[in-house]
Amino acid sequence: MYDETVELAKRRGFFWPSFSIYGGFAGLYDYGPLGVLLKDNIIRTWKESYLCDDAIFLDTPNVTPEPVFKASGHIARFSDIAAECEKCKTKSKLESVLSFNHISDIPVNLEDAKRIVSENKLKCPVCGNIINNVYDFNLMFKVSGDYYLRPETAQGIFVNFKLLNNYNRGKFPMIVAQQGKGFRNEISPRQSLIRLREFNQCEVEAFFDPENLKFKELYEYKKIKIKPNTGGEFYITVKEAFEKGLISSQAFAYFVLKTQIILENMGIKNELLRFRQHDPDERAHYAADSWDAEALIDDEWFEIVGIANRTDFDLKNHQASSGEPMKVKAEDHEFIPYVIEPSYGIDRIILSLLAQSMEKRDNKNVLKIPYKIAPYHFAVFPLMKKENLKEKAEYIYNELKKLDKYIIYDDAGTIGKRYARHDEIGTPFCITIDYQTLEDDTVTLRSRDTTEQERIGINKILEQPFIDSHIYKN
Ligand code: GLY
Repeated sequence: MYDETVELAKRRGFFWPSFSIYGGFAGLYDYGPLGVLLKDNIIRTWKESYLCDDAIFLDTPNVTPEPVFKASGHIARFSDIAAECEKCKTKSKLESVLSFNHISDIPVNLEDAKRIVSENKLKCPVCGNIINNVYDFNLMFKVSGDYYLRPETAQGIFVNFKLLNNYNRGKFPMIVAQQGKGFRNEISPRQSLIRLREFNQCEVEAFFDPENLKFKELYEYKKIKIKPNTGGEFYITVKEAFEKGLISSQAFAYFVLKTQIILENMGIKNELLRFRQHDPDERAHYAADSWDAEALIDDEWFEIVGIANRTDFDLKNHQASSGEPMKVKAEDHEFIPYVIEPSYGIDRIILSLLAQSMEKRDNKNVLKIPYKIAPYHFAVFPLMKKENLKEKAEYIYNELKKLDKYIIYDDAGTIGKRYARHDEIGTPFCITIDYQTLEDDTVTLRSRDTTEQERIGINKILEQPFIDSHIYKN
């Protein structure tokens, strides 16, 4: 479904490569008119869900001064090993050159990478020349002077910890969330929205007393597929996984459960989702434990959310570098808070959601995304462009807009073509105004998912309970 999704996304206006009139540039994508609406709905779902946990929100700059990333370890350690062909000048991640050459060794550091490269006479995937040049490649964009574009929104939260803690009157746990852009100078950006140089993140930093890593009730919910680094891949509830010691703390388990529910509300299919624990040598430099929520597209799993136990790594380092004390007082002890971070990759969620939701009906695409998430909730059609039908359709369209903004008017092509168009962009309901409407004030309401049509009074459609029961409470 990946190729079809990318094709549909461009043709219908969800997303497409940026700057295409100049040839396109890897790792940069635009959201089109439908994509912007979809993205807003995804972000709103995340935001509303964390408001239920009394999260507080923050908005900090993309451009960040060097001392922040010196302290956070990003300057020294936020890098990939690059392999560059001296003949054709292609620069690739060493990982992909190793896999092209069928080498399963994973280098632990640059020295090890150099050894593997010289022992195996690796061929360049593009021209076949033997590769000798491998080096650490920092993934941050330096903008000018001593400033970088942030590779994660998280640091904006850590540097503000003291102000946020005062704002929150010292209460713990403290859940802080930030939505914004992140930037990474990827060695080989690829797969449309999967590996971008500029991407959309929704991050949560949950600050805890390390002696009390607990948060809210962990209730029974659907089983989910997990792949712990101790081995195996199986279905289990998050509650059970915690009780069996597969997930290290109740607080961590809470954010796994929460992420499962949020992703499902966004339209990711439970059966095409798994939580995979990182092996120790795979973790980011700041993480003591990490699990990725991964979505399946075709036969490949992609990380869409990373959940990390960042301990007191960031706050301790900012304390040491800035001199600002990060310790707080509880009744009988002092502590630097521990942080659990669920970090949502919005672009990857959108791609996965579209790919997983696309179904075929009579050889045509139907995008079965959740109604609340759809760019438009209702499409209003006059059967024909005749004046009396048009007038009535415009009236209904304008009145509906007063109740719900996500309404589109469409009078182009036959009714069959219009249904097909709206099935393909995920519009849950189409409302057709025809000659009978002029006689008895009823319209046809047609469902995207069942294609069933029912005759319904205009007065009924133009009521808030109708919108709520069809879209918002669905
Ligand atoms: N803050 C985690 C990440 O950007 O991957």
